[in-house]
Amino acid sequence: MATPHNAAKPGDIAKTVLMPGDPLRAKYIADNFLEDVTCFNTVRNMFGYTGTYKGKRVSVMGGGMGMPSIGIYSYELYHFYDVESIIRIGSAGGIGDDIKVRDVVIGMGASTDSNYAEQYKLPGTYAPIADFSLLRKAVEAAEEKNIKVVVGNILSSDHFYNDYEKTNELWKKMNIAAVEMEAAALYMIAARANKKALCILTVSDHVFTGEALPAEERQTSFREMMEIALEIAD
Ligand code: ADE
Repeated sequence: MATPHNAAKPGDIAKTVLMPGDPLRAKYIADNFLEDVTCFNTVRNMFGYTGTYKGKRVSVMGGGMGMPSIGIYSYELYHFYDVESIIRIGSAGGIGDDIKVRDVVIGMGASTDSNYAEQYKLPGTYAPIADFSLLRKAVEAAEEKNIKVVVGNILSSDHFYNDYEKTNELWKKMNIAAVEMEAAALYMIAARANKKALCILTVSDHVFTGEALPAEERQTSFREMMEIALEIAD
């Protein structure tokens, strides 16, 4: 049964979906890391593929930019396609002083300036968190592969361009490691569906130092994050 945004048929999608923001990155992953690949979605060019990695069946699909976008795709994958785990893989802007470009950051928690949680009508402030089993596996996989990871609280922001320049300093005071734009919604959608989610990020730029990853190095750092994500997919 297709949805308005996904043409996949039942059974086309694996239990674990890796979700980069950019659908062309999903294609790159399918082309370069997976075997026996089939494409299950091209609606809105939000490409989705299923293949195998070391014999494991795994899917990869773009999620777009921002919380409304990843919210739609992840909701449909969990509720209509029996997906159990979504692992977002993306880029982030460093916020913490100890965070450097190229670092791999895993979002244990995802703070947010978004009103996404409003729909749940909770009588308080919700704390979106990663699934612990995925988080633990990711840290173990990183240790095994000798990849340094920072595990901490990230910020999922609705604003790439923020009119109030002090915003990031305020988040930094609360020990936020890096800023991206999707994890909090993914964590909420997963929690509500009683499913699993994790967000693994490569720091592509630093909000305060202005340091940015040179284009030719993007692939190498991206590979480390990818290796962790593919290793923990089951
Ligand atoms: N993704 C990569 N860099 C970012 C930044 N500075 N802000 C939000 N999302 C990002």
